[in-house]
Amino acid sequence: MALNVVILAAGQGKRMHSDLPKVLHPLAGKPLLGHVLDTARELGAEKICVVYGHGGEQVRSALNAPDIAWALQEPQLGTGHAVLQATPTAVPSAPTLVLYGDVPLIRATTLRRLIEAAGAGSLALLTAHLDDPQGYGRIVRVAGKVTRIVEEKDADDAERAIREINTGILVAPTAALARWLPTLGNRNAQGEYYLTDIVALAVAEGVPVVTAQPDEVWEIEGVNSKLQLAALERVHQRNVAGQLMEAGVTLSDPARIDVRGQLSCGRDVAIDVNCVFEGRVELADKVVVGANCVLKNCRIGSGTRIAPFCHIEDAAVGADSIIGPYARLRPGTELGRDVHIGNFVEIKNSTIADHSKANHLAYVGDATIGSRVNLGAGTITCNYDGANKFRTVIEDDVFIGSDTQLVAPVTVGRGATLGAGTTLTRDAPPDQLTVSRAKQVSVAGWKRAVKQKKG
Ligand code: UD1
Ligand code: MG
Repeated sequence: MALNVVILAAGQGKRMHSDLPKVLHPLAGKPLLGHVLDTARELGAEKICVVYGHGGEQVRSALNAPDIAWALQEPQLGTGHAVLQATPTAVPSAPTLVLYGDVPLIRATTLRRLIEAAGAGSLALLTAHLDDPQGYGRIVRVAGKVTRIVEEKDADDAERAIREINTGILVAPTAALARWLPTLGNRNAQGEYYLTDIVALAVAEGVPVVTAQPDEVWEIEGVNSKLQLAALERVHQRNVAGQLMEAGVTLSDPARIDVRGQLSCGRDVAIDVNCVFEGRVELADKVVVGANCVLKNCRIGSGTRIAPFCHIEDAAVGADSIIGPYARLRPGTELGRDVHIGNFVEIKNSTIADHSKANHLAYVGDATIGSRVNLGAGTITCNYDGANKFRTVIEDDVFIGSDTQLVAPVTVGRGATLGAGTTLTRDAPPDQLTVSRAKQVSVAGWKRAVKQKKG
């Protein structure tokens, strides 16, 4: 069904005490408004109109997309005035759904129910019954039928006692909306053009006013402060953790995982506490992630174990490998099968083929490393001369002794061995020992200096 979606995002967000516009504050790594846009897309909205505020160019450039129409609301004279800015872009024959850019966790299932309740010609309000309705507009009913909405600031004591509240989210017949909005007045406690006043107009015209409720109360909660932002972040993370466990992932503690993007897991994946997943992360079957790891945009092959305290970004790790503890895989790292990367090893823009190992204290940058290679402790690729980067090539079955520097561009031939402490500045031939090291000498009869006695 065709649908117009209007997202109100012009509010200032004073209580965030931030230079960043409120709707750009991230929840699970994505701007609040981004969550709402994605939900609108899930509903199959053809046209989404975002009402943005003065100084909101930042909002526009952060989230612009071909399916969004932007309507500037300046000055901000209330929610009714805000929706009015969006009516020119709406398709009159399709209903209009009004969402809020700072209510990020509203779900498509709830909205579909609201859209269904509205049908072709009704005004449908998403309402909720709250124990503490303070701050919200109240739904006034007479003989069970909604007659109007009264804002907290305009309400009398009896109205304030009503526990059914207006979430602000509604579906309206678009042609009627375009007719009602220009007629709104602003003679109320806040001097604003209230969108909520369309309810009384609908009733007066005999347009049916119906209501629907969200599945969960957190769906309708808005973000006005960092406290509320953090509370909704926890709700979201709890939901994601729940989905992962439903799908068979073992989480040591569902309260101690943060997914800021898309995490997809195979069978029998286990994740220990305090791990953060960002962007798109794929963990294949039987992957184990140790405590305190940060994984961003990466693929981890089946059976691989990531030990605690690893940082992996824009990288791919093959199957049956062991990474960490304390390993850092930087962008452009591609590891084959059964690769071992140990503590304090940093790898960047490099490929390492099957069965190779770098178990301790190494820097591998801009390198192509073959199979069954052993990189000793303290191996460093000197890839940068201060101006340009160069590649190091290490062929299959090479053994690199400890504390070796490979000054790129340089190639170590298949089967070669580099002696410990070598500074390699020219290619090392295959199958030979190459060593650059001052000859060891021992001085017979040498005496260590002794401290002279004073006076
Ligand atoms: C509004 C409703 C109230 C409801 C509550 C739910 C009205 C008059 N009242 O009140 O019944 O219970 O939401 O949270 O609609 N905005 C604009 N431009 C404006 C004014 C607001 O874009 O000129 C946006 C804000 O950024 C915000 C949303 O609209 O996202 C709601 O505005 P806000 O001022 O928070 O409305 P409330 O007074 O809370
Ligand atoms: Mg207000």
